[in-house]
Amino acid sequence: MSKKEKEIRKLMKDARSAVEIADLKKAGKKLHQAIEIAKKTGNKVVLDQISEFIQEFTYSNNTQSIELNLIETDGFILDIGGGGEGVIGKLNGRQVVAIDKNERELEETRNEALKVVMDATDLKFLPESFDVCTSFFCLIYVPKNRHLKVFNEARRVLKNNGRFLLWDVRIPERFGDYKAFMVRLKVKLPNGEIETGYGVKWQTQDIDYFKEIARKAKFNIMSEWSKGEIFHLEMTKKT
Ligand SMILES: C[S@@+](CC[C@H](N)C(=O)[O-])C[C@H]1O[C@@H](n2cnc3c(N)ncnc32)[C@H](O)[C@@H]1O
Repeated sequence: MSKKEKEIRKLMKDARSAVEIADLKKAGKKLHQAIEIAKKTGNKVVLDQISEFIQEFTYSNNTQSIELNLIETDGFILDIGGGGEGVIGKLNGRQVVAIDKNERELEETRNEALKVVMDATDLKFLPESFDVCTSFFCLIYVPKNRHLKVFNEARRVLKNNGRFLLWDVRIPERFGDYKAFMVRLKVKLPNGEIETGYGVKWQTQDIDYFKEIARKAKFNIMSEWSKGEIFHLEMTKKT
């Protein structure tokens, strides 16, 4: 076994131990490192084994399709959790201020948004700074007991009649031995298509849950849709 393969095996062993104690953050980190090494060394067999291991503890639904059109606004858009694929930044480019609490996620993002390391539960902007705030599959990554705080912060930094746009996924009650949930997405943008997957620690949620948070944070629901497991809310700040 090569030195690199030994390194991968050790990372996978650590990841397995982390999954056993439900430390999915650590497991994710170890697996990410293992995947990077396997990709660099072109080790397809090991990549398949890592993927099989992930499937052991992660429930993943069928690929969900979503189509996004340019967000119409003359002002700035605050995209919370805007790292990763940086979908909103790919959509509206320089109008977007993408914040993410994880610097690495922002470094990996390829778009023209202004990228700032910041926590969505503690925004550093002055009140009434933005016309639009977006959350594209960010809140699945935020523990439920912090959701209301995120909504309150979005409300604070939005201008009067500003819009909060949310896209997220229904996560059912946990079943089987699954510890993590993954949503696979195909996102159609005006200038291309992205295929991605977001994996998270299991926390049950649906559109009604977020509507209730919106009500508590004093947002009006202007429009909503659900398609398969995905849903969208367009909210405005009640003045
Ligand atoms: C599914 S991922 C990326 C989704 C991203 N909007 C995209 O277009 O690909 C969710 C992101 O939310 C970030 N995140 C989680 N909790 C956060 C918080 N409290 N404040 C800011 N970002 C957060 C994570 O670091 C992660 O990059």
